[in-house]
Amino acid sequence: ALGGRAEALLDGVRILMTAGPTREPVDPVRFLGNRSSGRMGYALAEALATLGAKVALVTGPTALPSPPVAELVRVESALEMHAAVMGRAPQCDIFIGAAAVADYRPVDPAVRKIKKDAGELTIQLVRNPDILAEVAALRPGPFTVGFAAETDRVIDYARGKLEKKGLDLIAANQVGGERGGFEREDNALTVLWDGGARELPMMSKTRLARELAALIAERYGDRHA
Ligand code: CTP
Ligand code: CA
Repeated sequence: ALGGRAEALLDGVRILMTAGPTREPVDPVRFLGNRSSGRMGYALAEALATLGAKVALVTGPTALPSPPVAELVRVESALEMHAAVMGRAPQCDIFIGAAAVADYRPVDPAVRKIKKDAGELTIQLVRNPDILAEVAALRPGPFTVGFAAETDRVIDYARGKLEKKGLDLIAANQVGGERGGFEREDNALTVLWDGGARELPMMSKTRLARELAALIAERYGDRHA
């Protein structure tokens, strides 16, 4: 029953998403990266497209096959992801930030390959823009959904991000240790919004993506009812 309702709610809805890691250039041959596989984001993009949404996916580099979305935009760095998102955000109904965006980038990537020498190497990092927070601040803006990857105090930190960034929904998962997260086949999520919460217990990322897609449809439909 929920599946049918979710479909009606997302039919033709324009969803802009980010997924995967970003790569922050150090020099022409090196980057700073992270352990995001992109699997959760890609599975969610596919689940939303299956529910009839028109999905544009802005993705960092992954080893995954392209999901069946209306538009696929490949980027590498957080700055490239930021530009691709901000150019499209005014035309979307829902924005979902599933990417593991690097919080910092090397301040001034070297033009030539850095050669080693006897001493230490220091790389100075500067803050990247917070793509999700910027989209959430747009007026009028889309329904915004974030993820929160936390090693501890998962609910507290996620609730804080929901409020501080002004999101409509946040999906929190525990990373590191036994309980799912990066580089795993299974995952569990706690989804929070203003005045509510739902546990999505440990299951395959494909199934979890379908449950999350249905919940996003339900919450979005509620706000636009
Ligand atoms: N995010 C983003 N742009 C950034 C950093 C994060 O769009 N520069 C988005 C992520 O896609 C995710 C959400 O913000 O949906 C939360 O990311 P997370 O790393 O958990 O939180 P941060 O706000 O970056 O805080 P911290 O890493 O310090 O916990
Ligand atoms: Ca972060």
